Amino acid sequence: MPVDSAARHILALDRRGALRGGMALAALAALARSARGEDRLRENPFTLGVASGEPRPDSLVLWTRLTGTTSPVPVTWEAAGDDRFTRILRRGEATAEADDGHSLHIELGGLAPASTYFYRFRTAGFLSPVGRTRTAPAPGSDATFRFANAGCQHFEHGHFTAWRHIAEAPLDTVFHYGDYIYEYRGLRPEDGGWAARSRIRMHEGGETLTLADYRARHAQYRADPDLQAAHAAHPFIVSYDDHEVSNDWAGGAPPTAEFVLRRTAALKAWWEAMPLPRAMLDRPAYRRFRFGRQVAFHVLDTRGYRDAQPCGGRGRCDAIERPDAQMLGPVQEAWLNDGLTAARDATWQVLAQQIPLMRRHLANGALSLDKWDGYPAARARLLAALAERRIGGAVALSGDVHRALAATVHADPDDAGSTALATEFTATSVTSEGDGSDSAGRPVLLERNPHIQHFGARRGFTLHEAGARGFEASFRALPFVSRPGAPHVEEARFHVEPGQPGLHRA
Ligand SMILES: [Fe+2]
Repeated sequence: MPVDSAARHILALDRRGALRGGMALAALAALARSARGEDRLRENPFTLGVASGEPRPDSLVLWTRLTGTTSPVPVTWEAAGDDRFTRILRRGEATAEADDGHSLHIELGGLAPASTYFYRFRTAGFLSPVGRTRTAPAPGSDATFRFANAGCQHFEHGHFTAWRHIAEAPLDTVFHYGDYIYEYRGLRPEDGGWAARSRIRMHEGGETLTLADYRARHAQYRADPDLQAAHAAHPFIVSYDDHEVSNDWAGGAPPTAEFVLRRTAALKAWWEAMPLPRAMLDRPAYRRFRFGRQVAFHVLDTRGYRDAQPCGGRGRCDAIERPDAQMLGPVQEAWLNDGLTAARDATWQVLAQQIPLMRRHLANGALSLDKWDGYPAARARLLAALAERRIGGAVALSGDVHRALAATVHADPDDAGSTALATEFTATSVTSEGDGSDSAGRPVLLERNPHIQHFGARRGFTLHEAGARGFEASFRALPFVSRPGAPHVEEARFHVEPGQPGLHRA
């Protein structure tokens, strides 16, 4: 019942003598509280933590998502220069709406570059955890930029220990390449196989299909304290891969009504769960960042506009070589090419994306057609765009294959003697495929792919530093994820010289 008509109703009751002065006022106050959602919050609504993202020199997005309510909830937010909030720089109010899954996306502008801020939220007597965040360096800054690359975090396959280590690393930002959630129903022992036998925790509910399903799945993942710690420690630049929607989806494949509804629900829930501005509700997820003079950061979407995987996604057939293969789609491809031209002054042009750009002849002799290997004509156009613009500092970031890889991408990706056009670092998974091993598949893969210099089959993440003197990559591996508390070790370290694509062991 709307507050106005409820109030009239109470006053009418009062006139009939059923309620009197003080009682009526108390009832009115309770109604108003209820309308504001306050007295529905009997428990801490900040169980999903806080986050920040989209670091620009003068702006950031602050995020939280409330639990335990179905009503609109007014929330106060504060940003400060210190973690005790003695110097509060900004304060505001916003309403967590049911339509947004009770998420808040506070777009904070007018900030100073390369500055650390602290933030928190408050409602109905509850205080959120404190988040720390950092703006991007000023356009002319010469500062070295430090970031992590991570993704593929199947909840059932392991503990999110990698995120705890990322939380503790000194970073300017975190790039999440995707596979933030997995859409599958919980595995039961009778399903058989490795994953069912070794799962350490279980997806709640069935396979995610509806907005409610995806919201619940994101909430289950985001309740993890290690993941929350990483979000509370650094701003994130997020992208999605396939499992945020469904395995191996291809946005340019002929749509079915059922899939369009599913993708709409999935990407709405993804937006709600991420520190993204409101405009990104109906804007493509590909976008650009600039980190001082050193780094142009092109976040690509290799899912939403690609055509369907050739050959039904398996084996080999003539369709692999189709000359009009689309991975980014023509609009994003033109947008990338324009951005590469505009950022030619940057020492490093990072292609922050999801899937390996490198050629990978797999141990069984096959190619993975879900990656750029299934779209060689699109890869050739991208490499030609780098060559034409004489971009010497192209670095591709990727993930998705649950292996750590370092490779040089050549003009002919099969010929390690042809011109080197980009250097690629593929982060292994945070948990997907469980503990892994030190040797699985390694000798064969390196032998078949001379352009690949590193192969790791443990879980972990990659740390990077991009500066005037080089681009560094440190592959971090965890000895196990089946139990909590694993340390992380540096499995390999590489250096790239400015203007010269290619790997040097450091
Ligand atoms: Fe994955």
